[in-house]
Order: sequence, then C-alpha cells, then structure tokens
Amino acid sequence: MPVARKAFVCILVAVGCTSTAATNVRQPLGAYLRPSASTGPLVPLRFDTSASARVVVRSKAAGLPPATYAAAQAEHGEAVFKKVCASCHPSTQFIGQQFVDTWGDHKLSDFYTLVRGTMPLNDPGNLKEDEYLGVLAYLLKANNAASGPDSLKPDSTLRTRRISVHVP
Ligand code: HEC
Repeated sequence: MPVARKAFVCILVAVGCTSTAATNVRQPLGAYLRPSASTGPLVPLRFDTSASARVVVRSKAAGLPPATYAAAQAEHGEAVFKKVCASCHPSTQFIGQQFVDTWGDHKLSDFYTLVRGTMPLNDPGNLKEDEYLGVLAYLLKANNAASGPDSLKPDSTLRTRRISVHVP
C-alpha cells in the first residue's frame, strides 16, 4: 500500500473512532502489488453505511434471498480474474474467512459497485459487463455460494440478493 494511501486510510480510521456517524468504517482488505503491476490513480476505498461520492457502501442484507450464478459464468470469471485481477491480487485474497466476514450477508450490488467502480485499479470500469459479472460469479463460487440456473445479470436483481458465502 502506498504511503499516501496508508495515511489516508489511517485518517479515516481515526475519524471512525471519534465520530459515531462513521462507526462502520473499516480498512480495506488491501492488495499486494506485484512489482510488474501498473498502478493507476489512488482510489479512496472506504466502507461505510452512509452513501456519498467515492465511498463504498456495504449494506447488511440478511433478509434478502441468496445470490446465485450460473456455473459457466463462474468459469468465465475465473479466467478474467486470472488474466486481469491476479496481476495485483493474489488469487486467495478474496477467498476464505476474511471475505466471508467482510461481504457475507451484504448486498451483492455493493460489492459489484465497488469492483466495477474502482477495479482494475489501473483501468477502473473498463472491463466488459459480462467480465465484471463473471468475476463476481467466480468469487461467489470460490467462497462456496450455491450456483443456480440463471447467470448474474446487470439488473435490479443485484440489489435484491445477498452474498451468501461460507468457508468449507
Ligand atoms: C493494478 C493493480 C490492480 C488490479 C489490476 C486490480 N486491483 Fe483490486 N485493488 C488494488 C489495490 C491497490 C487495492 C487496495 C486499495 C486500497 O487499499 O484502498 C485493491 C482493492 C480491491 C478490492 C477491495 C478490497 C477490500 O478491502 O475488500 C477488491 C474487492 C478488488 N480490489 C477487486 C479487484 C478485482 C475483482 C479485480 C479484477 C477485475 C482487481 N481488483 C484488479 C489493485 C488492483
């Protein structure tokens, strides 16, 4: 993590400690930048329940039905992840307990918005829609979410589904 980014995150955490309005702010999981990775502009990632520009919202959604994905979509997404995301993120970064604790029972659309709006860091928003959705499907599958007959689609169902993941 660049020093400037670290300072930024620390300030946010400090604010989070002193203000009751921002108690849900947490540090991002972070990324391991490989020496070969080309980095773009810094993206302030911040997790809060109150929405404002450039803030990633993470809403609890325990009452919503679980998000499912089609198996072929997850397969496609794994290839995208390996090609695009793995240059900066070790493939295990978003798989396991930490991901489950961070995103489990939260709205799928919040995670989608984070990834689509900020990643890949060197070219945010510039993958194809089905590539973003594929990566989502792959990460759901990798975290043991159940598959279903339908693919994830870029429509309102993203907002009405919960990330239902667990460690084996
Ligand atoms: C050029 C490097 C780079 C690429 C490529 C990249 N990322 Fe990232 N990503 C980062 C960095 C650096 C951070 C940490 C940002 C921070 O600390 O604020 C990050 C953060 C994230 C986070 C937030 C982690 C958290 O705290 O929960 C997610 C999710 C994520 N990336 C997913 C992806 C996905 C999916 C792709 C592929 C589509 C991708 N990234 C491609 C560099 C990259």
